Amino acid sequence: MGTTVHIRDLGKHVDSTVTLAGWLYNSRVSSKVAFLVLRDGTGLCQCVVGKQDVPPEVFETASRLGQESSLKVTGRVKADERAPGGYELQVAGLEVVHATTDFPITPKPHGHEFLFKHRHLWLRSRRPTGIMKIRHTVIDAIRRFFNDNGFTLVDTPIFAPSAGEGAQTLFSVDYFGEPMYLAQTGQLYLEAAALSYGKVYCFGPTFRAEKSKTRRHLTEFWMVEPEIAYAVLEDVMDVAEDFVCSIVERVLKDHRADLEFLGQNVAALEKVKKPFYRITYSQAAEILRGPQARELLEKDLVEKNARITQLKESIPAKEAARDRQGVKKYEQEKLAAEIIANREELADLEEQVANIPKHMELAANFEWGKDLGGSDETIISRLHDRPVFVSHYPRGCKAFYMKRDHEDPRVVRNFDLLAPDGYGEIIGGSQREDDLNVLLERMAEEGLVTEPYEWYLDLRRYGSVPHGGFGLGVERTVAWICGLKHIRETIAYPRMMDKVYP
Ligand code: 4AD
Ligand code: MG
Repeated sequence: MGTTVHIRDLGKHVDSTVTLAGWLYNSRVSSKVAFLVLRDGTGLCQCVVGKQDVPPEVFETASRLGQESSLKVTGRVKADERAPGGYELQVAGLEVVHATTDFPITPKPHGHEFLFKHRHLWLRSRRPTGIMKIRHTVIDAIRRFFNDNGFTLVDTPIFAPSAGEGAQTLFSVDYFGEPMYLAQTGQLYLEAAALSYGKVYCFGPTFRAEKSKTRRHLTEFWMVEPEIAYAVLEDVMDVAEDFVCSIVERVLKDHRADLEFLGQNVAALEKVKKPFYRITYSQAAEILRGPQARELLEKDLVEKNARITQLKESIPAKEAARDRQGVKKYEQEKLAAEIIANREELADLEEQVANIPKHMELAANFEWGKDLGGSDETIISRLHDRPVFVSHYPRGCKAFYMKRDHEDPRVVRNFDLLAPDGYGEIIGGSQREDDLNVLLERMAEEGLVTEPYEWYLDLRRYGSVPHGGFGLGVERTVAWICGLKHIRETIAYPRMMDKVYP
């Protein structure tokens, strides 16, 4: 038995004998040799079992192992450029830890409903593995950025007695017979911490009772929020810009292969450099009403309809080919997989095309004062090849704590950061209202009773200073960086209105 090593580290053990402990990802067996692709959570390695090289019973076992059987494999490490990962194991011995049959998720594609029902097993596959590893790195880069730049971590509560953002999305829980909510944000508590320690951040799960089933909304998501004392809007935006660049840079450095496997456009990510675009809400409104937005959607309509026509012809053709007599099993499975993928694409496109006229109308008639909707953000972000800051929103559509602008009191000193390629908002932030009387006025306007917020108002009574911060949603950021259509793939166990299993 060689020492047990991880697949990731095989390069350090070339020509020596090691043991890998993992699971059978895939296998191909002929009469003389069995190719076992082993996964161990750090990578994939092809283990070659030659009939000549092992006792007959070992070859027999290797030839019959079911997918996801757990096993330990001992052998010599060979460098081989053609092998996935660059190394191969010449197997001398094999120990089956648990023999498995009929693992539900095979290397063939499955529909997403089936996959999410089996999320606990699907996590083992290559695509979720790549996404989870990137998520891990995004979170590490987030913490590093703040830790390396003088921010102090302050954990804020998850049980919150009052709303931080809109009251419509509060989840209530029973707290010893008293009403209580799950935190939508740590921000208000964090403001107190910023006035204590200068630069702070909190990072945790947040909850919103989102009744809409969109590609961008979860009911439970992770948000990181920095808060900075003695900072105005522009300072906060500068931090957000450096922060996002540092995350993207780190993922590009560590995960090029994963990004390519996911089909992500790496060149587009490489463009994510300072300076980001900066426009105001009023300018965004002009863009939405203008010819650029209309032309973009008209072009979409033509292109998407063309693809729909194409799919409507190719799917039945593939079905006929699949059902034809004498078609090889391999060919049949390949067609079946394509049909599943094509049908999902078709359903998706049909939904999009049905929505385009509505999105065109919303954009063309966009009225100053309204918040940007999801489709509006998509348009703005698709018209830019780098992230876009949209700032100075009308105060009526934004949270009560945002600072009123001194030049134009109709707007607040806030921003949303829109990711490119139609991903829309990944950050929301603002300078906070630090004037007690203006804040009280604004709370009255919103019909908020002040009592639960007295402690928050204290921050404007004792040593109030200009300050601000932002919140970045981890899942939206991962979806954008990985180029995923839907946010649900960015977290191991997504929570949505209609999804809580497993
Ligand atoms: O824009 P939001 O609501 O801002 C706040 O909560 C502020 N208190 C942040 C601050 O200034 N400290 O949310 C911030 C980000 C959004 O830009 C988005 O990325 C993410 O949180 N987010 C969601 N992600 C997934 N599902 C949802 N339902 C989300 N709602 C917000
Ligand atoms: Mg927001």
